[in-house]
Amino acid sequence: MNLDREKQLAAKEAVKFVKSGMTVGLGTGSTAAHMVKELGSMVQNGLEIVGVPSSENTKKLATEIGIPLTTLEETNAIDVYIDGADEFDPYMQLIKGGGGALLREKILTYNSDLVIIIADSQKEVKRLGDFKLPVETIPFATKKIERLLQKMGLQPKLRVKDGGNFVTDEGNFILDLNIGHVSNIQLLESNLKQIPGIVETGLFLDMADIIIIGKGETTITLKK
Ligand code: A5P
Repeated sequence: MNLDREKQLAAKEAVKFVKSGMTVGLGTGSTAAHMVKELGSMVQNGLEIVGVPSSENTKKLATEIGIPLTTLEETNAIDVYIDGADEFDPYMQLIKGGGGALLREKILTYNSDLVIIIADSQKEVKRLGDFKLPVETIPFATKKIERLLQKMGLQPKLRVKDGGNFVTDEGNFILDLNIGHVSNIQLLESNLKQIPGIVETGLFLDMADIIIIGKGETTITLKK
């Protein structure tokens, strides 16, 4: 199974939704990078779009390949947002944030008219929770939150990079939680969001309109 090929096929299918004149939210990660590259080629061939990147990494990639960019502040509406996911279930609920861009990704998702998720076939699960749930925290509160989540049985692990704490584009930390196959994912989301200092979680509930999955040499599309 060639997962990178599946990611690319899903990306190729997703960019068919993009038309000239649109403002396009650009996700983050290896699958989203395929989509950004596809859009880059389409722009070179005359497609007129403006992109809103969800991370500094995506901003860099999109700039390098010539996609005109704007910011969330400057744009009225995002017509379509395309991004990857770490897990999705049959109800189109997602875990995102493996790449650490979950906060900006969730803000763009919330502010987009159409949300398309692209994924390889390995991202499909019966129940969310094998992937560790990323939670973005304010540095000032992170130690306290870590202790609290430990007591709640969520086994938080502070994300590290290059020998130091991983720092998000918004200057925050990430705790990766072992949520297991929790039965009430909505309740978990609302409990986590009530803790001061947790800025956002990687649970994207009822946010995806379309999921395009690369499977072998073909794609499967799920719609809400
Ligand atoms: C970035 O923060 C994430 O939400 C990614 O969209 C997600 O981790 C999927 O990444 P890959 O496409 O690299 O698997």
